[in-house]
Amino acid sequence: MTTTTKPGDTKTGANAALEARRQAAVPRGVAVQLPVYAAKAENAELTDVEGKRYIDFAAGIAVLNTGHLHPKVKAAVQAQLENFSHTSFQVVPYESYIRLAERLNQMAPTKGPRKTIFVTTGAEAVENAVKIARAATGRPGVIAFSGGFHGRTLLGMALTGKVVPYKVGFGPMPADIYHLPFPVAYHGKTVAESLEAIETLFRADIDPNRIAAMIIEPVQGEGGFYPAQPELLQGIRAICDKHGILMIVDEVQTGFARTGKMFALEHAGVQADLVTMAKSLAGGFPLSAVTGRADIMDAPNPGGLGGTYGGNPLACAAANAVLDVIEEENLCARADEVGNLLVGRIKGMQRQNSLAGIIGDIRQLGAMVAMELVQGGDANKPDAELTKQLIARAAEKGLILLSCGIRSNVIRYLAPLTTSDGLLNEGMDIVQASLEELVAERAGA
Ligand SMILES: Cc1ncc(COP(=O)(O)O)c(C=O)c1O
Repeated sequence: MTTTTKPGDTKTGANAALEARRQAAVPRGVAVQLPVYAAKAENAELTDVEGKRYIDFAAGIAVLNTGHLHPKVKAAVQAQLENFSHTSFQVVPYESYIRLAERLNQMAPTKGPRKTIFVTTGAEAVENAVKIARAATGRPGVIAFSGGFHGRTLLGMALTGKVVPYKVGFGPMPADIYHLPFPVAYHGKTVAESLEAIETLFRADIDPNRIAAMIIEPVQGEGGFYPAQPELLQGIRAICDKHGILMIVDEVQTGFARTGKMFALEHAGVQADLVTMAKSLAGGFPLSAVTGRADIMDAPNPGGLGGTYGGNPLACAAANAVLDVIEEENLCARADEVGNLLVGRIKGMQRQNSLAGIIGDIRQLGAMVAMELVQGGDANKPDAELTKQLIARAAEKGLILLSCGIRSNVIRYLAPLTTSDGLLNEGMDIVQASLEELVAERAGA
């Protein structure tokens, strides 16, 4: 017989019972990082079904820049729920979709005038951006980068520059996708090498006149929080302009104030042709968007774009409130404060004798902060094991952390931008104590 656990139940063993049910009912392909089950959450804190409290530095994978259930977002969704929850915009449209499109058209870092379509997930935004680019150019090819992540749908997976676990067993991949090396200074890979690789690709593999688009994250998210240097983005812009290729910038993880600007591309002084957005756009409600040059966006025929749930009314209400909150609470400036606090604490640990050599690199763009864990200070000795242990130990002490990176050795910090300094410090105290324990245990082993 199946027993149910209701929100508010705080039974000892409730997590274990749910974990057993998950393993029996849900395929292992949906991997779960922590076998603790959410009961309630508010701003940067979460309580599990056993009543244990956690500070949340994962924010549902970069979705909650405005925190769990921001009062204004909650009120906007509740108000919408009093009216209607779904009509399908393609059947009976509504104003909140149009208002949100108008607002993104004002702010997206693309050449103007602009138009916007709403869909539901980040991968779906990416798929639609590629469809629009192909329709607008009449060309098939798409160039992406190694280490990049663009989702788990067939095309998203094909564009993603990491084989394990995303592509294993799922082939054949869609055709006409090419990958270039992403420059990472810490790993000795330069921007010049990447730009040269584009020219090599055009000489060796594909005529640039057959390329519809190049897609890039302004900071690689899942790949390890590696910022794309402005020279790379500017170089890509120039190559796209030279060959009539469209530049798609994937801001799914970087958007909505996370990096200290509304969009990370603004740091590079470059404008894209198409921008994909999702995650923190709607504060926890499933919504994604593609904004782009109006003439490009209008290339697909009527009926060629959309989806039953795309631009759901509850999600649009949430997103309009999220944009208000970002402005009213000055979250772009707050992102820099959050990032500086976190980096100050990580640098302190890096200098600490007892933790010598384990924090190889620290990266920051606003509050998009990461630390790369290595052995003996060697960039070529990634410490994926310590990364995994840190996440587990921090969780025991009440902190939810998230890893990333092509070598699985990066801790990424994604605390809501609405987290207080007190909570940020409390979370970082847990990171420090966990690392101290783990290093001491290793030395004693
Ligand atoms: C840059 C980027 N693009 C696309 C996606 C896919 O988004 P979703 O998981 O909502 O499909 C992600 C998800 O992490 C992402 O970080």
